Amino acid sequence: MNIVLGITGGIAAYKAPDLVRRLRERGAEVQIVMTASAEEFVTATALQAVSGRAIRSNLWDKEAEAAMSHIELARWADVVLVAPATAEVMARIVSGAAPDLLTTICLATEAPIALAPAMNHVMWSNPATQANKAVLEERGIHILGPATGSQACGETGAGRMLEPDTIAATVCGLSVGKGEGLLEGRTVVVTAGPTREPIDPVRYITNRSSGKMGYAIARAAAAQGANVVLISGPVNLPAPPGMQVRMVRTAQEMFDTTHDQIAAADIFIAAAAVVDYRPTSAKQQKIKKDNETASIELVRCPDILASVAALDAAPFTVGFAAETEKVEDYARSKLEKKKLDMIVANQVGDDRGFDRDDNAVSVLWKNGKQEFPTRAKADLARDLIELVAKHFYAARGADAQPKLTVISGND
Ligand SMILES: Cc1cc2nc3c(=O)[nH]c(=O)nc-3n(C[C@H](O)[C@H](O)[C@H](O)COP(=O)(O)O)c2cc1C
Repeated sequence: MNIVLGITGGIAAYKAPDLVRRLRERGAEVQIVMTASAEEFVTATALQAVSGRAIRSNLWDKEAEAAMSHIELARWADVVLVAPATAEVMARIVSGAAPDLLTTICLATEAPIALAPAMNHVMWSNPATQANKAVLEERGIHILGPATGSQACGETGAGRMLEPDTIAATVCGLSVGKGEGLLEGRTVVVTAGPTREPIDPVRYITNRSSGKMGYAIARAAAAQGANVVLISGPVNLPAPPGMQVRMVRTAQEMFDTTHDQIAAADIFIAAAAVVDYRPTSAKQQKIKKDNETASIELVRCPDILASVAALDAAPFTVGFAAETEKVEDYARSKLEKKKLDMIVANQVGDDRGFDRDDNAVSVLWKNGKQEFPTRAKADLARDLIELVAKHFYAARGADAQPKLTVISGND
């Protein structure tokens, strides 16, 4: 895959060498195009060393232009990624201005364009930037992030560039759609994140799920060409591009939204950490602290996974089991009891599993299992989707696709 990586003049440009490495680890050829401002933040020497290609920056460089013109570069790209993308470059792309090599390529390419904005949170929330973002999205440009968190300026808010690995995993999926993906034409419904069960207007029951694993799985399925519906509980993650995202809060809302979507699904992956018990009835007014003790009566929340697996025309159904002990025993009994096709078992607690960027899991099915040692959630998600696709096609027999030869598995 050929990626033109545009680097613009934001402080997050210091992450660009790492991003180049992550893209190349995924087999991409990376041609860097820097703006003049980017050169203030990161050296062309470092970027040339990690990309293995001479850096392009000047539209008027006669030698470089003779070797590969800006139009040839625009045609060479399978994806144009701008990371970090400044507020300024977003404005230039919106206006169609092309005063430099990068924006000229953006105008001249037919490849998908993805921008990973990075800026101070006030710059990001400025109405001008938000209007530019909306126009770019309307034109089909993918906006990756930004994430929310602490910023280089010492403040906190939305405007951090997404982590290089997340950007690389997303972008390496964008050029699929040419009939090359393992799940081309398939519909995959993924649930992610926790649910929140209200106790009163200001309190709720929830859990520590961050949604990172489910979001990574949704991105990996989209990268394999699937039509993805991501049904997400409340999380602090940007909506991934290239899929339908339905935000819900309670287990009942997640149940209803899942069942609205499930008839079209070939594969259902339940990565959400749905709360097991909710208050029998949420109080209309804030509960006062009048007594020394208090108790809340709880009732079981609907079991979304079991309800989908029990449908007459159930999709290929994959559950998740997060356990603190006897992980494999509990997971296998859940697989059998709920009549799932596969289950992904992971140990949680002691700083494992929840709200981390890496994870280790075992995947179990009727007569087998496969271990996946600790790795970045984006990489784990890609491997899980390949395994799920393999078992899905095996289960569907005549529907099996010849693309299975590219899948790695050990059973
Ligand atoms: C120290 C410093 C840090 C900056 N960081 C950012 C940033 O993170 N995001 C941003 O949008 N602009 C940032 N700017 C402003 C851009 O560098 C400026 O708008 C520039 O014209 C962008 O040009 P370019 O988009 O062609 O790279 C920064 C400027 C300075 C001096």
